[in-house]
Amino acid sequence: MNLQTSYLGLDLPHPFIVGASPLGSTVDRVRAAEDAGAAALVFHSLFEEQIEHHESGLHAHVEAYAESFAEASGYFSSAVDYHYGPEEYLEHLAQCRKAVDMPLIASLNGTTPGGWTHYARQIAETGVDALELNLYYQPRTDEEYGALIEANFIEVVGKIREAVSLPLAVKLSPFFTSLPHFVRRLELDGAAGVVLFNRFYQPDIDLESLQLKPSLHLSDSSELLLRLRWLAMLHGRYELSIACTGGIHTRDDALKAVMAGADALQLVSCLLQKGLGQIEELRREVAFWLEEQEYESLSQARGSMSYLHAPNPEALERANYLRILQSWEA
Ligand SMILES: Cc1cc2nc3c(=O)[nH]c(=O)nc-3n(C[C@H](O)[C@H](O)[C@H](O)COP(=O)(O)O)c2cc1C
Repeated sequence: MNLQTSYLGLDLPHPFIVGASPLGSTVDRVRAAEDAGAAALVFHSLFEEQIEHHESGLHAHVEAYAESFAEASGYFSSAVDYHYGPEEYLEHLAQCRKAVDMPLIASLNGTTPGGWTHYARQIAETGVDALELNLYYQPRTDEEYGALIEANFIEVVGKIREAVSLPLAVKLSPFFTSLPHFVRRLELDGAAGVVLFNRFYQPDIDLESLQLKPSLHLSDSSELLLRLRWLAMLHGRYELSIACTGGIHTRDDALKAVMAGADALQLVSCLLQKGLGQIEELRREVAFWLEEQEYESLSQARGSMSYLHAPNPEALERANYLRILQSWEA
């Protein structure tokens, strides 16, 4: 079965990519991902704060940031665990580039249009094939409004586009007033793809100690539904590629994401829980199912359940929301 796909202009043999995580944090792990048949790998992120910390020597800044925003601390602790500063990150990318042939995608994580964006150029020099920009941000004051935050995001994207010609994917949260409009702006500003969606690592409250408890739960398949809705809404409207991240664990999850419109499928929790062998397992199972259903290729299935092609696109709309609520019987 032909599972080929194109993502960010990269021709991939199948859509299963290792998503940004510790799975790319050592050369051995990256080699293991390639040996396990990954179509590509996204590295863990280099954070704006790490770069600024490095450049200003203000160690306290990173610590204050991680302390104040519990949702960041999951990311920060993993960043700290990787023991990478910006220079080590670049060195790691360059070493991995020499060690494997599969496409490699670096990840920058930042939201303010500062000097850190010039690292994109140094990242490009390591020989990676593409760059993922994670716009992970939560407003904290009542002075920040949607248009301002989006304008900042667009400026960051613009600065990175100025710095490099590498294909750029933007990893988004689902929290936009109009996601279709924002994706259009990204496309106009030269993004080659979007990645749907960031997960927010929400802290819990410990009632005994009255402390916030940062927690990192791996995903399960229930998180896929939010992605399916937006994949289905966005597919076919843009030239840019769309990757799905969040909640892909089984053959059916993968097939649904492709049918909703995903060009590439990023796996993290599934691989952390069950091992890299899942890549081959999912690839085989998806191929087998498509053959059984007499599809000619994965491309033939792509987007078949999107808003443009679904037999029942109303299921994505407001009228259906009303109908579903009214259908409840005690
Ligand atoms: C331990 C861990 C570390 C992660 N580190 C990063 C990171 O550095 N940058 C990033 O953009 N996403 C990071 N993520 C998010 C994943 O790339 C992915 O988007 C998310 O886990 C949802 O996919 P999943 O359901 O397959 O886990 C991390 C996730 C986990 C579990």
